[in-house]
Amino acid sequence: MPILSSLCARAMLYEKFQSKITHNPSLDRNLVSYQGNKQTPFYSWLKYREGFSERLVTYILQTFKPNPGILIDPFSGSGTALFTASELGWITTGIELLPVGIFATEARIISQKIDIQEFKKLIYKLQKIDYKSYCKDSFTFNHLKITRGAFSEINEKQLVGYLSYCHDLITDHNIQKMLIYAAFCILEDISYTRKDGQYLRWDFRSGRSKSKSEFNKGAILSFEEAIEQKLKQIISDLELNSIQLDLFNDNQLPQFSHNKFGDLENVEPKLYEGSCLEILPTVPGDSVDFVITSPPYLNRYDYTRTYALELAFLGCGEDQVKNLRQQMLSCTVENRDKRTYLEEYYKSKQCEQIFLKIDSVFKQQEALQEILMILEKNKNEGTLNNKNIARMVHNYFYEMCFVIYELSRILQSGGIIAIVNDNVKYAGEEIPVDLILSDIAESFGLTTRYIWTLGRGKGNSSQQMGNYGRTELRKCVYIWEK
Ligand SMILES: C[S@@+](CC[C@H](N)C(=O)[O-])C[C@H]1O[C@@H](n2cnc3c(N)ncnc32)[C@H](O)[C@@H]1O
Repeated sequence: MPILSSLCARAMLYEKFQSKITHNPSLDRNLVSYQGNKQTPFYSWLKYREGFSERLVTYILQTFKPNPGILIDPFSGSGTALFTASELGWITTGIELLPVGIFATEARIISQKIDIQEFKKLIYKLQKIDYKSYCKDSFTFNHLKITRGAFSEINEKQLVGYLSYCHDLITDHNIQKMLIYAAFCILEDISYTRKDGQYLRWDFRSGRSKSKSEFNKGAILSFEEAIEQKLKQIISDLELNSIQLDLFNDNQLPQFSHNKFGDLENVEPKLYEGSCLEILPTVPGDSVDFVITSPPYLNRYDYTRTYALELAFLGCGEDQVKNLRQQMLSCTVENRDKRTYLEEYYKSKQCEQIFLKIDSVFKQQEALQEILMILEKNKNEGTLNNKNIARMVHNYFYEMCFVIYELSRILQSGGIIAIVNDNVKYAGEEIPVDLILSDIAESFGLTTRYIWTLGRGKGNSSQQMGNYGRTELRKCVYIWEK
């Protein structure tokens, strides 16, 4: 296909979905990002920058399904969709691959079970302890290559001493886990690093910074300051929550509506640990009422690098991190093709026909094939920043085809899927992720109700397809229904 006509398939796709693209003034960037959770009790313990906000989940659920049912988030991260929906009476299930989100979800569940008064007493006692005197070799921080030198010597000693103390001297397992989680949440604050999109950025004080311009991350907290602040924040959120629950009990306010199982209490979210590419195919068909999720964006952000400190803290070694990187939904230039693995997986489940069907939907998505061809041409001409960008884009959509097929299969008739995602641009080519994924969803029998755009709402003019350089890339929430 000649490159000049290359806008054709994307223009047609745009025409197809134009009437669905609407600016939703109720949504803003804060709402679809971690920023919206910054002040929210519980959600602000760990800065999970890839998260969306509690308010977004509430908004979506209340807009479409006031009656609670079963909700799933196949990329559940820190569990925002799960906990928010569960507080509204939904039965929730998450799937998460990265140990970071898994630990955050577990800790949040445990936090509801601890004896707050005991926890408070202990925190008071901890303030007088010199952690470093408890340091034990068995709790040494097992650095990965990319985290070595991330802490000052004193901060690392205090951290190791604190962990040794928690493991050896705290007998209540739930409280012990909460204390360890508090340390997990402050790793960045007490380090020379900052998570910066694709990389872990190093402060000049580490002596490790490679960039010419010196980066200064600002205040680096001492371990004692940081842990004290974090523990105070946790206890204050837990106390506030227990006061609210008491009020509820006293006044019999109908905080939870009956869900369809007749449950009044909110049910603890259930979490599957692993890749949704493997777990979704095991979920029964027509069993879910709502999906709210945000897959990794197609933006080259490598969670296994930015969360390297947290992964090392959780005991992941180099090989495990490499494996995780490959298992993640492809969104970095290092991800290799999962086609053979998916083919074998579907065959092992006697689902080869399904594999072939999904594979053919991928091949028939014309706008996508158009983009892949252009990127391949750019690659051959050496005009891509990284030659693996073409492969990354290919793999991202290939894997998303499987995710979307499975979501459409497990959704009940009348069910809704809400997806948060960004469009991206490589080599000057806009990739309308929203339109391509919506078209794939329609190939699997879903209907696109809205593609809500955020921000200033620009970038949606009909001239857009010819004006990549000047338009704002859409940041969207798409709503599909079965
Ligand atoms: C954009 S984040 C979602 C954050 C979440 N909405 C929250 O509020 O915390 C995407 C998540 O998908 C996870 N992920 C990536 N590949 C995955 C896979 N194959 N299976 C399950 N989870 C995966 C990442 O670890 C990350 O936590």
